[in-house]
Amino acid sequence: MTLFIPPTVDPPLRPLGVIQSLRAVRRNTLSVLPAISYSQPIVSGVTGLGRWHMVQGPEGLKRIFLDNVENYPKSQVMIRMLRSAVGESLFTSEGLGWRWQRRAIAPVFAARNVASLAPMMTQTAERASARIAAQSGPVEIVREMLSATFDVICEVALSGREHFDAEEYGAAITRYFLTAGRASLLDFLDVPHWIPRPGEIRGRGAVRTMHRMVARAIEARRRKGPGELEDLLDHMLKAEDPHSGRRMTPTDLLHNIQFFIVAGHETTALALAWSLYLMSHDETVQARAREEARAVLGDQAAGADHLARAPYVEQVLQEAMRLYPPVGLLARNVLAPDQLYERDIRPRDTVFLNIYALHRHQLWWDRPDAFDPDNFAPDKVEARDRFQYLPFGAGPRICVGANFAMMQAQIILMTLVARFRFAPAGPPPTPVMHMTIRPEPGVTLQATPI
Ligand code: HEM
Repeated sequence: MTLFIPPTVDPPLRPLGVIQSLRAVRRNTLSVLPAISYSQPIVSGVTGLGRWHMVQGPEGLKRIFLDNVENYPKSQVMIRMLRSAVGESLFTSEGLGWRWQRRAIAPVFAARNVASLAPMMTQTAERASARIAAQSGPVEIVREMLSATFDVICEVALSGREHFDAEEYGAAITRYFLTAGRASLLDFLDVPHWIPRPGEIRGRGAVRTMHRMVARAIEARRRKGPGELEDLLDHMLKAEDPHSGRRMTPTDLLHNIQFFIVAGHETTALALAWSLYLMSHDETVQARAREEARAVLGDQAAGADHLARAPYVEQVLQEAMRLYPPVGLLARNVLAPDQLYERDIRPRDTVFLNIYALHRHQLWWDRPDAFDPDNFAPDKVEARDRFQYLPFGAGPRICVGANFAMMQAQIILMTLVARFRFAPAGPPPTPVMHMTIRPEPGVTLQATPI
């Protein structure tokens, strides 16, 4: 059987130096991952002042994510890049500051609460489908998927779009990631993080805009009180740590909701855009997904109850997140000496969790670069080390929104694949990683209604 081999980035034959790395990171972080990271479980090096290790073996990742998790706090550089937008929120905090927030927020995303949000997700799938049907020519899918997932987060966390100008907010996010949200030379030179980077100063206006808009939406909801159906914002307003009884201050709430908006909508939109792109190049896969979805849905849009009857649509999504994990690289600091694959790991080293290479590794996958949703057939998943596939991370800091993301993505993908036939209509996209892995210059497809 001929499988589609989608685009990737040629890796450098050996690790890059400081200036080369900084340039490459600013262009596309994937171009920094060295060729041997796809065939070895660990690669180490020294760049500028610091030693680093890139880990892409399941055993090493299990040690970092789970068995010795206390030793590997999140990287200060990554926190520096996010702190002005999301402060000490769940994602960016450590220790006690993290623990109480996790205890308070985890129940907000419990399966029951997420399932109760499904009707709003179904409505956004209907709207996305109507927007696509209204276009006569090729459709830019990334933009459409960003709009669909933004729609979901506005509905469930911001009481709809009436208090929220999506365009103004989107422009502020983009500006943020081009300024404060970028690695700076000062990060590579180990300059203390309390010294603001030039980009952070340039990004202050964008942060003010985002905060003002989210605070206004929260305040509007507080005044109005909960609607008929409780949504994510209602749950967050009531969230409480069961151990200490501690509740969110308005600033905690602002920072966490702000993080949900940024993290939740773009990651999910990218998983969807890559799924549609991959299927557009493999008619066998697309036809199988379409038949499965149509048999369950008929003319309806998907809802929570349909998803269990469409396992192949879920496999397509999982395979898309294997080839293009929305979060492809994470970074950790090291507190105490440790060993990974018999290599000494020292305090102050930086450890990169290389999810992109883990998912395309020659030691763990048969045809690592080919698109094959059968990689996620139940028997294959059962036989595999759980730490070989980590789009949502693992251990105590695993993505708290994973259920939410999967439900939203499955509802949208199942609805679209049942209603349209997708065919390529633009240049092949290159995967470009900054915080997330995006297809550049986009994904242009012809969507023909069925
Ligand atoms: C396909 C979509 C998504 C992907 C691939 C994804 C990926 C991840 C990953 C890899 C982590 C772990 C980071 C680390 O260990 O350093 C994470 C954490 C997190 N994610 Fe997601 N995420 C997605 C959607 C969402 C959504 C929809 C939300 C909320 C609405 C969300 C909220 C969070 C939060 C709050 C954390 C921090 C959890 C903690 O540290 O306790 N994510 N995500």
